[in-house]
Amino acid sequence: MSQVLPLQSSPPHIVFEHLGKHYAGAQAAALEDVSFTVARGEIFGIIGRSGAGKSTLLRTINMLERPSTGQVRVDNVAVGGLDEDGLVVLRRRIGMIFQHFNLLSAKTVFENVALPLRVAGLPRTEIAPRVTALLALVGLADKAQVYPATLSGGQKQRVGIARALVHRPEILLCDEATSALDPETTESILALLRDINRQLGLTVVLITHDMAVIRQACDRVLVLDQGHVAELGTVRQVFAEPRAAATLALLRPLRLGMPAPAGANSNAAHASARAGHSEVRGYAAHG
Ligand SMILES: Nc1ncnc2c1ncn2[C@@H]1O[C@H](COP(=O)(O)OP(=O)(O)OP(=O)(O)O)[C@@H](O)[C@H]1O
Ligand SMILES: [Mg+2]
Repeated sequence: MSQVLPLQSSPPHIVFEHLGKHYAGAQAAALEDVSFTVARGEIFGIIGRSGAGKSTLLRTINMLERPSTGQVRVDNVAVGGLDEDGLVVLRRRIGMIFQHFNLLSAKTVFENVALPLRVAGLPRTEIAPRVTALLALVGLADKAQVYPATLSGGQKQRVGIARALVHRPEILLCDEATSALDPETTESILALLRDINRQLGLTVVLITHDMAVIRQACDRVLVLDQGHVAELGTVRQVFAEPRAAATLALLRPLRLGMPAPAGANSNAAHASARAGHSEVRGYAAHG
């Protein structure tokens, strides 16, 4: 919910056009006629109940999931038309983090972050400084040589974020990235995502089932209900004047003042995230 929204006149970063997805054998469509745009540099939230189609929608951006109808364009390029080489390039431009951090337990933190660069064939002399800078960026400079088993959940997600940034992506996709974390840790990870968004100019698309996460982190939000767009607006608008029944249902835990499953509903946490204690340090060379 930053005060300065990206200029509406600049071309959108990601465009979804009449997207539909029907999994073979499924009764209902996972997505139906979904159209919207994501602006360059915004933090765009997608919220909905379990099974609403959030992950399916997110995974069409890098073609991990192919839509049955419609198309996705990134920087005005229809990603469905890319060949294998084009997809490799696209996927390096798009980082991704998950609820389960998917770290390799037999490799150190440093090696986990370095791995995608080794796979891409970067020389060692380039890998080491880049990984070191990324670990500093996520606040894990002192954890380079430890193994994931010794890290807290929040620290593991920081490794996941560093790994997602190794190819210097322009888009970061977050699939329930804070759902396994306690409220305080959620707050610090969302603050880190906001810092990265601001300082590196990344476009972030974040999916969650928790309105507190949307309130803490996002500029705009799309409410997905059974594969349809139920509501889309700025976080301010949607919180002040929710229109769809699905939105009201998702807001209910916050309105009742009950803790949501992940992400605190505490105003203190919110204010602190807004105040933006900067977590991004020592990564000025990123570009
Ligand atoms: N590979 C698949 N094959 C068949 N059906 C699938 C597949 N993946 C998802 N679905 C179905 O598509 C619908 C949307 O699933 P999706 O995983 O996108 O929802 P979601 O909003 O991410 O849910 P959650 O919050 O539980 O992660 C669900 O009905 C799901 O069962
Ligand atoms: Mg999902």
